[in-house]
Amino acid sequence: MDPKQLKIEAAAVALTHVEDGMRLGIGTGSTAEEFVRLLAKKVEAGISVIGVPTSERTAALCRELGVQLSTLEETPQLDLTIDGADEVDGELSLIKGGGGALLREKIVAAASDRMIVIADASKFVETLGAFPLPIEVNRFGLAATTLAIERAAAGLGLSGAVTLRVTRGDAFDTEPFVTDGGHLILDASFGRIPDTRALSDALHAIPGVVEHGLFLNLAHTAILAGADGIQTLLSDKSA
Ligand code: A5P
Repeated sequence: MDPKQLKIEAAAVALTHVEDGMRLGIGTGSTAEEFVRLLAKKVEAGISVIGVPTSERTAALCRELGVQLSTLEETPQLDLTIDGADEVDGELSLIKGGGGALLREKIVAAASDRMIVIADASKFVETLGAFPLPIEVNRFGLAATTLAIERAAAGLGLSGAVTLRVTRGDAFDTEPFVTDGGHLILDASFGRIPDTRALSDALHAIPGVVEHGLFLNLAHTAILAGADGIQTLLSDKSA
């Protein structure tokens, strides 16, 4: 089945959770963009919501489609965030940041009463880690931070390349990818991460790490669209 169609189906189910007057966190990535397109139609039909975007890219799409925007300064508490993910496990722990927006995504999700993750079913995994873990770091001390990350991972029995994310400048050149917050991204190919909490804590203890893409205890619901239909997973927090 067409992956784009699956993303649209997951987004459409998430849209049924959106009510008039809600303050929404709006995610980043191709799946979140399908949600924005459907949300814009609902806005056109008369529903009133305000959205806090998790990236400049999402903000631009919302503006283009007429979704009213706010900021966490004006609207520090949100009812619901809807966002995509790179990996989702059975406990609704996530890897996010493939699109480089993990810091704002995590701040917005943490400011929300509920977070719904939308994805095609291929994002569901038994153990997180096949997708390289994005880690947002300060530019200062990049080599020292990279080494500290490798050492922290080794302490947990994890190893693998930790590489600077780059973006193609022109045909001959590559430049570091820079986040909306002006930081850099390291992608850590550790493979399976059995103890996500331990890795999260170890990464947070490194001064040069701004944030990482492990989203633990943030998602309440995952809506996964596959060829066999929609599967909805609920976390313990939803009970
Ligand atoms: C953006 O930084 C990411 O966290 C995205 O939510 C994630 O990469 C999913 O993106 P897609 O919906 O494009 O797969």
